[in-house]
Amino acid sequence: MSEPRSLKAQAAAHHLLVGFALNVQQLRESEAYRRLVAEQSSIAVAENAMKWSSLRPTPDQYFFEDADFLLQFTETNRIKLRGHNLCWHEQLPKWFGPTATAANARSLLTEHIRTVAGRYAGRIHSWDVVNEAVEPKDGRPDGLRDSPWLKLIGESYLEVAFRTARQADPTALLTYNDYDIEGETEYDAAKRSAVLLLLRRLKQRNVPIDAVGIQSHISAGGQHRYGTSLQQFIRSCREMDLEVFVTEMDVDDRELPRDVLQRDAGVAQTYRSYLDTVLREQNVRAVLAWGVDDAHSWLQAKRPRNDGAPHRPLLFDEKLRPKPAFAAVIGSFAAARPLPAPSAGQALRGSKR
Ligand code: G3I
Repeated sequence: MSEPRSLKAQAAAHHLLVGFALNVQQLRESEAYRRLVAEQSSIAVAENAMKWSSLRPTPDQYFFEDADFLLQFTETNRIKLRGHNLCWHEQLPKWFGPTATAANARSLLTEHIRTVAGRYAGRIHSWDVVNEAVEPKDGRPDGLRDSPWLKLIGESYLEVAFRTARQADPTALLTYNDYDIEGETEYDAAKRSAVLLLLRRLKQRNVPIDAVGIQSHISAGGQHRYGTSLQQFIRSCREMDLEVFVTEMDVDDRELPRDVLQRDAGVAQTYRSYLDTVLREQNVRAVLAWGVDDAHSWLQAKRPRNDGAPHRPLLFDEKLRPKPAFAAVIGSFAAARPLPAPSAGQALRGSKR
């Protein structure tokens, strides 16, 4: 491949932000990683460092060193930082189960949000305030996931989380983030409907919510299709005046052959067609891949290939060399219709941020 161009330059021409989920250990240890991230990104997110399990070693203590380090790096390099996340059913610390009760859960949640979002107020582009709150398989008429937060607080936990986040950091864009809303399957359709139902309920109650994160953990090959339904979902978000961020993109290659050239081509083609589809919609403002290099992708441990070969789901290989997927993303940005420049309100909210 010829000299790599920069994702961020190509994205900026379209008023779009681009970047990665960052691994703080790599950021601390690898100069090459830091250089690449600084060269390529205009936005970033912590893959793990801002989750409850990372920030809350005990009920009374906070551990901010990794998150602070990350923010210092992004600010030095003029990269906006997304916060991930303030309220999720996973990655709660071990003490949470035995400690949280119906009587104290609401104050545990609000105190956490005030402390964390308050600490970084004015310096975060957008917070994933609530992550993955919808699960049609749990069988509730409202489509909400039967999460610890729902069980302990009731459905008002979502509203409480968003209102507390707005108070704690009035300038961050407040985001609802979820997965399995991308595809053409029946399950994804059910999930999209439930997410839209939730968003409408929140909007009707004037809950402060500015954006939707479409995680975009997608797959290449097989029967996987991404198209009209996803576009329609993004348009429905726009009708509610919600921005959309592609927050966690990667391409699972388990259904592609082992051969690396074929696999890289299939993954690249999937990035290209997915982003071509998504970027037709003018409220899509950011694209983040869930990791920088293949070797550190969560898919390696959590979704191994049947043949044991390492996954190749990201834009850079294990030596941080750009792959065909990198060129595909640049190509998609270059072909996209330029988005309107952010409005004054958008420029204020999430500007530094
Ligand atoms: O830090 C501990 C380490 O001390 C311990 O020795 C080791 C042993 O298992 O675990 C380490 O923690 C792991 C952590 O990643 C950091 O590497 C956890 O086990 C592991 O479960 C955790 O996985 C993360 C997962 O979220 C759960 O938080 C993945 O890295 C991360 O990519 C993944 O990201 C999620 C998004 O937040 C939400 N959307 C889906 C996405 C993929 O699952």
